[in-house]
Amino acid sequence: MNLNIADKKSSGVEKKILKFPEGFLWGSGTSAHQVEGGCYNDWTQWERTRAEQQAARGGSTFHMPIDPILRKQARNPENYKSGKACDQYNRYEEDFDIVKSLHQSAHRFSLEWSRIEPEEGKFDEKEIEHYQKVVRALRARGIEPFITLWHYTTPTWFSQQGGWINPKAKQQFLRYVAVITERLKDDVNFWITENEPETVARDSYMLGTRPPFKKNIFKAFKALNTLVEAHNDSYDVIHRIDSKAKVGCSEGLVFFESYNNWPHNLLVKKILEYWRNGKFIPRIAVKSDFIGLQYYFHSRIRLHPFKSWKGFQFNDNKKMSDMGWEIYPEGICHILKSLKKYNLPVYITENGLADYRDFYRTDFIQDHLKWIHRAINDGVDVRGYFYWSLIDNFEWESGFWPRFGLVEVDYKTMARKIRPSARVYANICKSNQLEISN
Ligand code: BGC
Repeated sequence: MNLNIADKKSSGVEKKILKFPEGFLWGSGTSAHQVEGGCYNDWTQWERTRAEQQAARGGSTFHMPIDPILRKQARNPENYKSGKACDQYNRYEEDFDIVKSLHQSAHRFSLEWSRIEPEEGKFDEKEIEHYQKVVRALRARGIEPFITLWHYTTPTWFSQQGGWINPKAKQQFLRYVAVITERLKDDVNFWITENEPETVARDSYMLGTRPPFKKNIFKAFKALNTLVEAHNDSYDVIHRIDSKAKVGCSEGLVFFESYNNWPHNLLVKKILEYWRNGKFIPRIAVKSDFIGLQYYFHSRIRLHPFKSWKGFQFNDNKKMSDMGWEIYPEGICHILKSLKKYNLPVYITENGLADYRDFYRTDFIQDHLKWIHRAINDGVDVRGYFYWSLIDNFEWESGFWPRFGLVEVDYKTMARKIRPSARVYANICKSNQLEISN
């Protein structure tokens, strides 16, 4: 696609205007457990038992804040209990008013399966009606809903039976998918069946850092296999109920590079690339109307056989989020181009950073969009961008201290405050274009 790139000269500074395709969707996202509050699922059980341990360590295994202000928060056990979260269950109208005021045309959020089916096979009518109201509240504001059917958390009865490695898991999920599609289909066009299944297979079944804490590569493969089949069959179930629905799945892909051409680095790169990027997408692409891409990571492999794991990845880019994640916008363009072979539309369903001072966020968004625009010009059919996240929220095993939001949340008063970067993003959403300095 050859998009319009216009030059503009104002006050002596050369500006370039990057126009996005007509109808491009602009938005941001959340997930139920991270924002709603009052959840009861496999994660809330974890939060009760692990909070003290995490606090004693000063953070989760992988994410220890360096900033002293954040470190203090990470040492507080309360940080690790989702509790009332952002109380979005009760404040969704207020949050959607913000979405509208920020000129976003689409919004991604997830349904909490454990509310809808608190007991196996028993569906809670009140909760289904709640989500009908949520979807209609978006529609009333002219915002396109993107629904994630499953974003990490599961009902306790599901996890007690073995979670995604239980032979009945797929059928249990499909039953829920059928019920909810039937009830929401009139107001929903876009369905995301699963959020980052590879992350769940890896962290929950192989590394054992998340519920249900399994450390077994065979179980990880088994869980992933079930998730592939659950996605593919959900595609059929949803289409049977609504033939016009658009169904996809969101996966987090990593841009890997080898630091040099040494064979061991190249080999490790290949293996990691296979596990993170290559295993899942090809198997679900056959049953997808679009691909949901989530991009957070770039990894330059530099394995030092005689040093610790610290020498494993080498990033010479000094810009880091509060979680220590490297900021590497160019990577999104490489990943997008690698998806071209599937010949499917792509929605970027997550891309964002924890940045409590809102120091990097504006550049982060603009720089990623610049590279996304480049990918579109190179022929990738990108149709939308969802910044992660709309509001600060409960960041899983790291708790509340990482702040990803375009909107700041005061967890004591639940007051929302729009960050300056959100205003810049709002202008992009409104004009469907990005202005950059030449
Ligand atoms: C998950 C989000 C999470 C974000 C930042 C994504 O992989 O889908 O739930 O908050 O990463 O860690």
